[in-house]
Amino acid sequence: MRRSNLPAEPNRFVGRAGEQAELAALLGESRLVTVLGVGGVGKTRLALRVAAAVQKRYGEGVRLAELAPLRDPGLIEHALVEALGLTDHTLRAPREVLVEHLADRRLLLVLDGFEHLVEAAAPLVHALLAAAPGLTVLAAGRLPLRLPGEAVLALAPMDEPDALALLAERAARAGAPALPRDEAVRELCRRLDGIPLALELAAGRLPLLSVEQLLARLDDRFRLLGDGGRGVPPRHRTLRTAIGWSHELCTPRERLLWARLSVFAGPFDLEAVEYVCGGPDLPQEAVLDLLGGLLAQSLVTREDTAAGPGYRMLDTVAAYGAEWLAALGDTERMRRRHRDWYMGLATWCELEWFSPRQAEVAARTAAALPNLRAALDLCLELPDDAHLAQHLAGTLWFAWVG
Ligand SMILES: Nc1ncnc2c1ncn2[C@@H]1O[C@H](COP(=O)(O)OP(=O)(O)OP(=O)(O)O)[C@@H](O)[C@H]1O
Ligand SMILES: [Mg+2]
Repeated sequence: MRRSNLPAEPNRFVGRAGEQAELAALLGESRLVTVLGVGGVGKTRLALRVAAAVQKRYGEGVRLAELAPLRDPGLIEHALVEALGLTDHTLRAPREVLVEHLADRRLLLVLDGFEHLVEAAAPLVHALLAAAPGLTVLAAGRLPLRLPGEAVLALAPMDEPDALALLAERAARAGAPALPRDEAVRELCRRLDGIPLALELAAGRLPLLSVEQLLARLDDRFRLLGDGGRGVPPRHRTLRTAIGWSHELCTPRERLLWARLSVFAGPFDLEAVEYVCGGPDLPQEAVLDLLGGLLAQSLVTREDTAAGPGYRMLDTVAAYGAEWLAALGDTERMRRRHRDWYMGLATWCELEWFSPRQAEVAARTAAALPNLRAALDLCLELPDDAHLAQHLAGTLWFAWVG
């Protein structure tokens, strides 16, 4: 088993020197550390960066479990079993498998995006820490777990030098002319509250617009929103504004693809997008270009897997797309298409399992697991589809049990 399952960094990591040192130190002092902050502020990036840096402290390495895509709290334990790369050929309860595996190991477990499942995640983390003295948990989310002994690092937006550096880096990558270090650029960073995701989205516009033009347009948007966001924390409003503005700048077809991509969980590949998102209103042959458009605007990021090239949509961006998809009244149909694709994949993998292509099958299954789980989630939600859930779970026996 590989000792770590951390993904490669998608692009250059910028700044956060103080936070990196602080988090590394907290991990040395406490067995439960939570990185807390608003959406898009950089919790995931910081947690993964530091986890990789401190990996050598843990004999058994670092394992990442991404909980953001899960809907059903009952699947958290399965997600952890999977993150730990455990093979279990018996029908034991996942909790038992986890406890037994972790009991005498020195390991760092990173739990990312647990906030929507906090009520189930907190007692589980508590129980695992109690049962496994060598376990350290690094959690990242918008809420604390509120467990005894939890050390919290509240991640603030980037300070001005980091925000400027991130904006300049991403603008350059997008092909924009070099940014002047002048007052307008500083104003732009302030306007975006130093939130990395908002800065990245804005940077994607700089090949086309000057900083002043961008500022003027953002101001219009903020004014447009007016008090509409009363009660919403200002930083949240900033991010919504940045995302909403990106949304307006997309072509209608890009918007449609964005909405539809929100049904994916974790990394997905082009074939899946073509099948799930294609249709009379979005011809399959147009999907590649549209996906390229979203990629260029930082709305989709590249995330290759062992199975080949892949893509991912950040949680906050996907959440915006999901709202749009719901407004179109198309959520259920898209989730069914998503499920159908992954059921087909699961069936193919099962058929090919005992073939010379086993390595490829294993890689594809591993890369698709978050999506397979999301598909199973849907089957469990719809009573009529219970038989499909059984079929899918049955087909996936080789993935669940390793
Ligand atoms: N220090 C950094 N250097 C480079 N890029 C960063 C940095 N911090 C954040 N980013 C980028 O900003 C975006 C948002 O960051 P991230 O996904 O870590 O936020 P988050 O706080 O985990 O958000 P969410 O609550 O939605 O999960 C990502 O594209 C990420 O790569
Ligand atoms: Mg995150």
